Amino acid sequence: MLESYGEIIFLSHFMLVYMASVNYDCPMACECDIDDETVNLSCRRTIPDTLPLNTRVVSITDIEYEYLQQSDFNNARWENVTKLYLRGGSVNSVFSDTFWNVSNLTHLQISFPNLKKISVNAFGQLTKLKTLDLSGNFLISFDVVADALRVNEFTNNLDELNLHSLAMFLTPSELKETFFLQLQRFSIKRLDLSQSNFKKLDLIALSYLGSSLEELRMVGVDLASLMSFFYMPLRHTCFQICSFST
Ligand SMILES: *[C@@H]1O[C@H](CO)[C@@H](O)[C@H](O)[C@H]1NC(C)=O
Ligand SMILES: *[C@@H]1O[C@H](CO)[C@@H](O)[C@H](O)[C@H]1NC(C)=O
Ligand SMILES: *[C@@H]1O[C@H](CO)[C@@H](O)[C@H](O)[C@H]1NC(C)=O
Ligand SMILES: *[C@@H]1O[C@H](CO)[C@@H](O)[C@H](O)[C@H]1NC(C)=O
Repeated sequence: MLESYGEIIFLSHFMLVYMASVNYDCPMACECDIDDETVNLSCRRTIPDTLPLNTRVVSITDIEYEYLQQSDFNNARWENVTKLYLRGGSVNSVFSDTFWNVSNLTHLQISFPNLKKISVNAFGQLTKLKTLDLSGNFLISFDVVADALRVNEFTNNLDELNLHSLAMFLTPSELKETFFLQLQRFSIKRLDLSQSNFKKLDLIALSYLGSSLEELRMVGVDLASLMSFFYMPLRHTCFQICSFST
């Protein structure tokens, strides 16, 4: 008697879980957070081949791929996904056109401890992008970022560029004019250059961003002289511990 009662409980529990997963079609390696209209996914190790209807936010950790390319995002329907967070794992390259089928993104975070290469045009189709977060890519230099931003389709929607903790293990260097020339095209409002080990910053180059830049964050950056910053019309400049609302 007790046994079959237990079985019924077990069965109905199983059916509930089963029905929920059928209704929302939550991919295998993911957890789905669902409210009335939208679905947020957190996945591990793999990029899902299918997405539940109305998926808006996707976060993937510990990706077990060597590189990312367009075909990784070619199967699921990404049309409503506006925020994509990719963190950790073994990815060492991001190829051109990777986000071709995810081009409605407004927020993109890529943070891979092994990343060494971002191809020119990796972000090419992301014309709606507002926030690009490349923080925590310890092996990527500013030159690589400048190259990756050399794209035609990018419009000036990009408000925020987070380059926190870039090139942590490279020898200290100068942050060059070419880097700021690339950025100048985007009218960036918030720029985070914290915890990177460049020693020299070309202040004239930085002034290329002067007309749009509102917030510059350089926590833990050891520069020889900071005086010239006080002549920049920035609303918020931060050299110590501080946070900006994003
Ligand atoms: C999905 O994520 C957004 C922010 O990224 C949050 O505002 C929203 O409440 C989340 N929705 C669900 C169903 O978890
Ligand atoms: C995208 O959103 C629209 C409007 O909410 C909806 O009709 C459509 O089915 C969604 N598509 C996907 C793939 O989620
Ligand atoms: C992704 O984009 C390619 C090229 O435009 C297209 O052929 C393919 O159908 C798209 N995939 C999806 C799932 O929309
Ligand atoms: C972007 O969203 C629009 C609807 O807002 C949709 O028609 C279009 O197919 C989406 N683009 C992609 C590449 O999914």
